[in-house]
Amino acid sequence: MEECSKNICWEDLQRDALGIIFCKLSLQEILSVVPGVCKPWSEVVSGSYCWQDTDIQEWSQQSTTDQITSMVHMLLARSAGSCRRLSVSRLPNDSLFAFIADHAKSLETLEIPRSEISDSIVEDVAQRLSKVTFLDVSRCTKIGARALEAFGKNCKCLVRLRRVMHPMDLVGKVCHNDEAHAIACNMPKLCHLDLGYMFITTKAVFEIAFKCHDLKLLDMRCCWDVDDNLLREKFAGLKILGPRVYCRS
Ligand SMILES: *[C@@H]1O[C@H](CO)[C@@H](O)[C@H](O)[C@H]1NC(C)=O
Repeated sequence: MEECSKNICWEDLQRDALGIIFCKLSLQEILSVVPGVCKPWSEVVSGSYCWQDTDIQEWSQQSTTDQITSMVHMLLARSAGSCRRLSVSRLPNDSLFAFIADHAKSLETLEIPRSEISDSIVEDVAQRLSKVTFLDVSRCTKIGARALEAFGKNCKCLVRLRRVMHPMDLVGKVCHNDEAHAIACNMPKLCHLDLGYMFITTKAVFEIAFKCHDLKLLDMRCCWDVDDNLLREKFAGLKILGPRVYCRS
């Protein structure tokens, strides 16, 4: 009996250790090389061990929307609810976002820049993303203040938000002050906020700085309307980047 339980433990340990090692490999290697080596290795990569921290950002930038959809489905199925970080760009529609919310209840870091998601889907499913502490919704041009409010109300431990735009996304857009207001009113625990290229005014940024007491770093490079001298005077402890620096998004 004892012998047997020892064996089981050892096997589990070995799997965990292999999982940790495999996570260092590229996605390509994990998916196509490792499974062919031997049965135990193949079992490790088809289990949840490797899929807790999943970054397919680069891959997704050059993949089709169908490929992104099937990859996210496969990865979340493998992680069996244990995924803590998902980083993928260009989610093609609301249904994939809803799928993520339904299948990744442990998510702490969600980075989905350039995704085609809507305010209403965020309002519908944000309650299932309650553990998220770091959110990147940069260049998601179809969402606005409503989605930010829903994220803030449901992700109560949110400490970092990236909402960085690109000059190309801003055609026809005149003001993001409503988004700044949603951030100020609903994300009180923020420590680190990136707002590159947002059309916001000094007043809107003041509201954020007043209401988010834990804010340490405010990156507003290329937010040209903001008078940072006023801000620097009033909030001496806050590290401010921009607006007059070049930024990438
Ligand atoms: C969402 O996008 C995927 C991938 O392009 C597509 O297969 C699916 O049908 C789309 N779903 C809806 C509801 O549009």
